[in-house]
Amino acid sequence: MVKLTGYKKIKTAVFISGTGSNLKYLIKFSKTKQSPISINLIISDNAKAKGLKLGKIYKIKKKVFNFRKKYKFENQILSVLKEHQIKMICLAGFMKILSRNFISKFKGKILNIHPSLLPKYKGLNTHKRALDNHEKYSGCTVHFVNTRLDSGKIILQKKIRITKNETKSSLAKKILKQEHKIYPRAILKVFSL
Ligand code: GRF
Repeated sequence: MVKLTGYKKIKTAVFISGTGSNLKYLIKFSKTKQSPISINLIISDNAKAKGLKLGKIYKIKKKVFNFRKKYKFENQILSVLKEHQIKMICLAGFMKILSRNFISKFKGKILNIHPSLLPKYKGLNTHKRALDNHEKYSGCTVHFVNTRLDSGKIILQKKIRITKNETKSSLAKKILKQEHKIYPRAILKVFSL
């Protein structure tokens, strides 16, 4: 593994749309000595995202962009990222699909967390689909973002057993708890590749 002490942390932006619990764990991780990243910017497509409150708590700059005119706003985001010297992006519950143009500007530098064992259950409603299909296991995946939805190279996964009386919400809760653990571990892995 690459030794990180003494190196400058990589300036990172986290993109969110809602609660921001993954964001919270990423912030906590970023403050540890072993973290290769610092979180310098929070971007949301939703002004009401609860996670934006973390910006105030942890004194991290936050920006909200309406994605209705995607290309226009993506270009604005790119300038803001440049202005803040952001070199890496972590998507954490970000519900918009980034364009090919945007992704190409951060090629290999965008990570995402997804609540299923990819390549199974890309897209939305992962827990319901896993339960409907009587899966024995589900889990979460951290992967690189490419231009195809939830299809980039997998960095790390955590497998969870689905119990007999599992519901959508019990499964979501169990998986989210694991997401909080694997996202930081995946970032460490990326920097040790
Ligand atoms: C997580 O389950 C993430 O995998 C999915 O959306 C949820 C976001 O949760 N894409 P939070 O906003 O990080 O609490």
